[in-house]
Amino acid sequence: MKKLLSITLAAALTLGSMSTVAFAAETEAEILPGNGQKIGVSMPTKDLQRWNQDGDNMKKMLEDAGYEVDLQYASNDVQTQLSQVQNMISSGAEVLVIAAIEGSSLGEALTMAKENDIPVFAYDRLLMDSDAVSYYATFDNYMVGTVQGQYIIDTLDLENADGPFNMEITAGDPGDNNAGYFYAGAMDLLQPYIDEGKLVVQSGQTSFEEVATAQWKTETAQSRAENILSSNYTDKDVDVWLCSNDSTALGVENALAANYNGKYPIVTGQDCDKENTKNMIAGKQSMSVFKDTRTLAKQVVKMIGQLLNGQEVDVNDTETYNNNVITVPSYLCEPVFADANNYKELLIDSGYYTEEDLA
Ligand code: BGC
Repeated sequence: MKKLLSITLAAALTLGSMSTVAFAAETEAEILPGNGQKIGVSMPTKDLQRWNQDGDNMKKMLEDAGYEVDLQYASNDVQTQLSQVQNMISSGAEVLVIAAIEGSSLGEALTMAKENDIPVFAYDRLLMDSDAVSYYATFDNYMVGTVQGQYIIDTLDLENADGPFNMEITAGDPGDNNAGYFYAGAMDLLQPYIDEGKLVVQSGQTSFEEVATAQWKTETAQSRAENILSSNYTDKDVDVWLCSNDSTALGVENALAANYNGKYPIVTGQDCDKENTKNMIAGKQSMSVFKDTRTLAKQVVKMIGQLLNGQEVDVNDTETYNNNVITVPSYLCEPVFADANNYKELLIDSGYYTEEDLA
């Protein structure tokens, strides 16, 4: 993880007040019309809300632009995803868009794509250990972590308060390259306060390996949090629980409801999933990071059009995302801070959810 830590610290430090973070949207470019080319879209799972939205958005936007779409979900099973992608190639996909379950497990399919001159877009999660990845489109993953970390610093007023405050950490799936960036973005900002003793992690679990959650599972996050609470917080308060995303935050929130009687902590998240947004409104989750899946899908459709029309493909980062073989040209959309105060504007006024979705 060390390697990650220094690269974007400057970006993190300029983040300043989160309320001023604007929508960063896709590029100005138009969506160029397709002429029936088949695009294979491989999504990890239907279990998590966001991938259903990503898949639906991609399918609709690609079809509206004039492409044929082969959309598959892989039930979080690596082998299923591998064979689905291989089938897409055999059945004539001209471009692949892949959100990997495990970034480094699709090598065989990627080699097959390259042999068939099929461009591959890594969608949201980087595809690792392969030179067959043409482009990567995602949200700025490191910035997601810095938004969470900065929120904790501001809310506890760590600059001025004496503390100490108790904190616990729940991170994401080690097989997902994003998870390390989220963790690093937050920990780069918070580690100095841990070193100085203002933030105390009573469980002693701070390394990425210790706090990771296999496959981002709510149940896994919940049972680890229940253990931590019963071993460390029967006679103390936990003041803050840094959670990398909403599915893990939900597990922590369930554990807090089941196993804890102290002062309710700050809980962070990411995605603005419906359940978590409801929890924000109910005061059970403090914030989330909104990544408008419509923005990402639209950007990818634009990039596909540019590529298929021989135009330059819009990227805004050619340095950060090395997959152990190549540095993949990337387009990073900007994540946006969300909480109970701004969710209406971000999520309802923008048409992402209806009022009933959150009732
Ligand atoms: C995505 C997050 C999501 C997580 C779990 C990550 O790769 O970037 O938005 O919460 O996977 O699905």
